[in-house]
Amino acid sequence: MAINRPLHPESRLVHAGSLRSQFGETSEAMFLTQGHVYESAEECEARFKGELPGYLYARFSNPTVEMFEQRMAALEGAEAARATASGMAAVTAAILAQVSAGDHVVAAKALFGSSRWLTDELLPRYGVETTLVDGEDLDQWRAAVRPNTRTALIESPANPTLSIVDIAGVAEIVHSVGASLVVDNVFATPLWQSPLELGADCVVYSTTKHIDGQGRCLGGVILGSQAFIQAHIFNFLRQTGPAMSPFNAWVMLKGLETLAVRVRQQTANAGAVADALASHPKMSKLIYPGRADHPQAELIARQMRAGSTLVALEVKGGKEAAFRFMNALSLVKISNNLGDAKSLITHPATTTHQRFDNAARAAMGVSDGLLRLSVGLEHADDLIADLADALDRA
Ligand SMILES: Cc1ncc(COP(=O)(O)O)c(C=O)c1O
Repeated sequence: MAINRPLHPESRLVHAGSLRSQFGETSEAMFLTQGHVYESAEECEARFKGELPGYLYARFSNPTVEMFEQRMAALEGAEAARATASGMAAVTAAILAQVSAGDHVVAAKALFGSSRWLTDELLPRYGVETTLVDGEDLDQWRAAVRPNTRTALIESPANPTLSIVDIAGVAEIVHSVGASLVVDNVFATPLWQSPLELGADCVVYSTTKHIDGQGRCLGGVILGSQAFIQAHIFNFLRQTGPAMSPFNAWVMLKGLETLAVRVRQQTANAGAVADALASHPKMSKLIYPGRADHPQAELIARQMRAGSTLVALEVKGGKEAAFRFMNALSLVKISNNLGDAKSLITHPATTTHQRFDNAARAAMGVSDGLLRLSVGLEHADDLIADLADALDRA
């Protein structure tokens, strides 16, 4: 029987988008097929013309991938979603698909390293100029937009500094020149922030992070209104081909079923870790969006429903001390991923942001002592003991 009342996010995460085959399976079926067969040449022609519904080819659509897209759209409150092979495929498509030579893009400086490669290196090669701004400063956004600004890209909280951008404020500024706003919402997760409700036009995720949540598969997704996806994304993905594999979509569907439980617990653990370490004498800085001492706590209260599963910390003594601290950890693992069930620590200056020179890193707030801690599902007391012990030995 069809469900005809509005569901809470937890229920949508378990049920939305399910397409049951004639066998009535409980768990979503994995349709590992590149293509589909047709009863007749006429049916094939009609499907290609869009006159008949149905799947064509896995670069365009696939039943398992579609279940994942439908579930993501239901969770995000978006009219449409398109899955991609990775988070970077989603970010790249969301920006490239909107611009032509002669256009202008504005982006916050504090972005994941590969997203900065897109804005700094790739777009200019195709005649698209980029202006980078301090994402927190709305005056810089006002000064940056122009009549030919097509789109803007932000992360909030940003990777790895956890700085926050006023999404509604930036949306208003970019809309005033007819541009769109793309928000990479990886650090907030769909649970704690809804950029479309705040005025953004497009939301992207690396589903490699919390949505898989157990370190298995790469994936990405682009969400927006039907009009936005149809105008910019649908054909771009169909023709250029960064499709999510059905296997990865199936893993992501299973990840979504437990997303709310995991992210809630990981956020509680991150808050406990942040509170325990904030005043440690070896720490020069600790930034956590769930704490009252976050410099943008008032904005966080306005646009987020909770903190994050990530903590940014800076140990006294720069890179050497940061490395000693990392090497002294046992439960927390050194890795460059995030959003995993396992707690992972990253030194951004030598990994995700290593291609930038010192000045560019400083402008992004990525100091030599900065560490990004992705808090997992271990018991908070065990994590605190591991981190405190390693700090003592650093
Ligand atoms: C904020 C953010 N956006 C995008 C990406 C890229 O995702 P993927 O590795 O799935 O391409 C990452 C990955 O680290 C990220 O942290």
